[in-house]
Amino acid sequence: MYPLRRNRRLRTNEAIRSLVRETIITPNDFLVPLFVVEGMGVKEEIASMPNYFRFSLDLLVREVKELWAMGLKSVLLFAKVPDNLKDNKGTEALNANGLMQRAVKAIKDVCPDMLVMTDVALDPYSIYGHDGIIENGIIVNDDTAEFLAEMSISHAEAGADFVAPSDMMDGRISVIREALEDEGFTNTGIMSYSAKYASAFYGPFRDALDSAPVDLVNIPKDKKTYQMDCANRFEALRETEMDIDEGADIVMVKPGMPYLDIVREVKNEFDVPVSVYQVSGEYAMIKAAAEKGWLNHDQTMLESTIAFKRAGADIIASYFAKDVVKLIF
Ligand code: PBG
Repeated sequence: MYPLRRNRRLRTNEAIRSLVRETIITPNDFLVPLFVVEGMGVKEEIASMPNYFRFSLDLLVREVKELWAMGLKSVLLFAKVPDNLKDNKGTEALNANGLMQRAVKAIKDVCPDMLVMTDVALDPYSIYGHDGIIENGIIVNDDTAEFLAEMSISHAEAGADFVAPSDMMDGRISVIREALEDEGFTNTGIMSYSAKYASAFYGPFRDALDSAPVDLVNIPKDKKTYQMDCANRFEALRETEMDIDEGADIVMVKPGMPYLDIVREVKNEFDVPVSVYQVSGEYAMIKAAAEKGWLNHDQTMLESTIAFKRAGADIIASYFAKDVVKLIF
């Protein structure tokens, strides 16, 4: 007896496969992370992120126009802060004329409809490379949250459409939301990094911003007192629920590929848009294996992207955004 149902019929050729395909990637799915740096005419490749760059503002706006023309309509900004401007409290983050604030304005000047999200966290501004203020070797929660609210106001004043707190302090979403409301930024959204794991996959990003935790006595060597333990699943749901209750418009799971199960659970459990971050280490892995000829670059890139959407992500933050759109459109 042969089977009555032959699933292979639906895989016979590309025409039928595309007819029954459940998941389609479009430029609308992507959020493009961008690294900005001081200077003029700077486009520096990040050593551990081949073909990914830090841009000075003059070249950033060129890049943004190119993204817009490709149908990529949302960016997520990270600023590389000069060492001499770093301190424990992240004071420079509030500078109305700081790099991040100028980057937002520069983008809005050339491309007013581009959705601009800003990273809200202390680490690029911290001499210690941590996402919070440190007192007696401890990352203090509430003072950090207050500071992040001020930082969010500063970004909103510069013209950011969304702020994206990536720090994992408790209660920061409500503090930020309230501050935005008080200052009249009722339409400024919050994309919360709600289930953010303490991950080894962030390495290349910390190279990009020179933001790794420093190796000093009495300074925590890692981010495990605020970012989540990779072994935990229920905790991700608790974190996400809390951020939604506090006013997050969009929630995020990060990293991406090792946490697809969490993406699916969050998507099933909550009714707000879910984003996923395919982080720097995931990008670097594919690039490195492809350089060695061990993996096919385009196919692995596309497969990873489709997997995010299949897992339930509504928004994909990825360093591959441009490459994927070039490949399929
Ligand atoms: C820090 C921050 C990190 C990333 C985004 N925001 C690194 C970290 O938590 O140490 C990582 C992104 C990536 O690896 O691509 N606030």
